[in-house]
Amino acid sequence: MHQLDPPDDDGLYIPSVKEHSKAKHWFLSRYIDAFTTSMKGKWSSLHYIDLFAGAGIERLSETGALDWGSPLIAAQARYPFAGLHLCEKNRRKYEALIQRFHRLDSDAQVLRGDANKRIDEIVRTVPSRTLSLAFLDPYGLHLEFETITKLSGIRADLIIFFPDHLDALRNWEKHYLRNPDSNLDRCLGSGADWRQILGSTPQDHLAEALRNLYVQQIRSLGYTEFRFQRISSKGHPLYVLLLCSRSRIAAKLWSGISAKDRNGQRILPFGE
Ligand SMILES: C[S@@+](CC[C@H](N)C(=O)[O-])C[C@H]1O[C@@H](n2cnc3c(N)ncnc32)[C@H](O)[C@@H]1O
Repeated sequence: MHQLDPPDDDGLYIPSVKEHSKAKHWFLSRYIDAFTTSMKGKWSSLHYIDLFAGAGIERLSETGALDWGSPLIAAQARYPFAGLHLCEKNRRKYEALIQRFHRLDSDAQVLRGDANKRIDEIVRTVPSRTLSLAFLDPYGLHLEFETITKLSGIRADLIIFFPDHLDALRNWEKHYLRNPDSNLDRCLGSGADWRQILGSTPQDHLAEALRNLYVQQIRSLGYTEFRFQRISSKGHPLYVLLLCSRSRIAAKLWSGISAKDRNGQRILPFGE
């Protein structure tokens, strides 16, 4: 596998993140490696889309260690993407990201603002007859279903960091239940009857019900293959990395990369 040396402190802004970020990046970099190796030559070009890009380098809050962020993992793929298309809302992170791309002498479309508003520009820029990998890594529920619908108009596999355990969505009953235009409604899309489903599901099956509902919504956009990787935070199973594709090849690649963890241990296919 193509493994990057950890980044140095380059003096630019480095946000602190929780330890589970490292596992997320581990799977992303393995998948990028497998995806670019397997798909190069099969498509006129490969593109990478990262709508919640961050600053490019992160500091793990518990150990202080530095870790490459998702856009710079993609920028340093062994077989480079033909285009990188990034969006970040936070000005400080956006400016650090721009500087880091400049220093790497790497080119990218980097937009600042709400990815749900700027998605049209990105989709317009990606050339037709190409294959994209879109990494969608918001905090909580900020990825709107409408944005995924727009991405489904181009040929793009998706890796979504999804908080399926409702304890990740603190106070969901208080904040979302009686608000018809809540973040959960915008995340799951219109027609997702989550109030009825969650209201009639036992507590210990809520995460599964939410995940199934999300998959069902994405399936309605023409995606046929889904794979999950559980990412825990301090032993709590709060998130899943969800791969969505129209191709069985992508699903096979995912199964290949998720067979072992960073320490070489076998991973059970899907642990709650
Ligand atoms: C989990 S972090 C991303 C980390 C990055 N993907 C990585 O793995 O290195 C989420 C990022 O999304 C940004 N963000 C939050 N809401 C956003 C929005 N609506 N549009 C674009 N970026 C947003 C935050 O500022 C933050 O940097």
